[in-house]
Amino acid sequence: KPSDATATAFGEEQEALVLSAWNAMKGDSASLALKFFMRIFEIAPGAKQMFPFLRDAGDAPLENHPKLKTHAVAVFVMACESATQLRNTGDVKVREAALKRLGATHVKAGVADAHFEVVKTALLDTIRDAVPDMWTPEMKAAWEEAYDQLAAAIKEEMKNAA
Ligand code: HEM
Repeated sequence: KPSDATATAFGEEQEALVLSAWNAMKGDSASLALKFFMRIFEIAPGAKQMFPFLRDAGDAPLENHPKLKTHAVAVFVMACESATQLRNTGDVKVREAALKRLGATHVKAGVADAHFEVVKTALLDTIRDAVPDMWTPEMKAAWEEAYDQLAAAIKEEMKNAA
């Protein structure tokens, strides 16, 4: 289901918009991950407490955390997979075992619905700043839809895990 009035059915064009941005960005995933996290914590400073590897590291600068990239890249890559699935089947199906684990992990970390909105805003801002020449309302809508559907699948599994 479209998330807003500007969203159209998810097709080849939408998938291509998502994948083309990721292909242009992924070569520099370390700095991308850093920017993504900084944006998340700018919007929601409290979210830092959820990431054990940040919580335990005191005030050390973010860029010194080797684990930083993992979550950032996971969100980008899974949103890309989500786009491909939406184009193919109109629905997002994360592999069941993976989804169960994701539900459990995020419940355990104390992630709430509002955090998914924070991460979504940070994701869109990060892409906009990484590929300003490619960024269009259509590209934004495609990433939003791919992310929203993915987040909905994870949130649904979080309910089962809670
Ligand atoms: C862990 C993906 C949203 C916080 C993970 C992991 C993945 C992942 C793949 C690794 C652990 C596992 O596989 O179970 C995603 C995706 C998201 C999303 C695809 C959105 C579509 C969020 C949000 C937050 C969050 C909104 C909170 C701000 C965490 C935390 C961990 C985690 C705290 C555990 C990290 C650790 O212990 O090192 N996530 N996540 N995630 N995620 Fe997310």
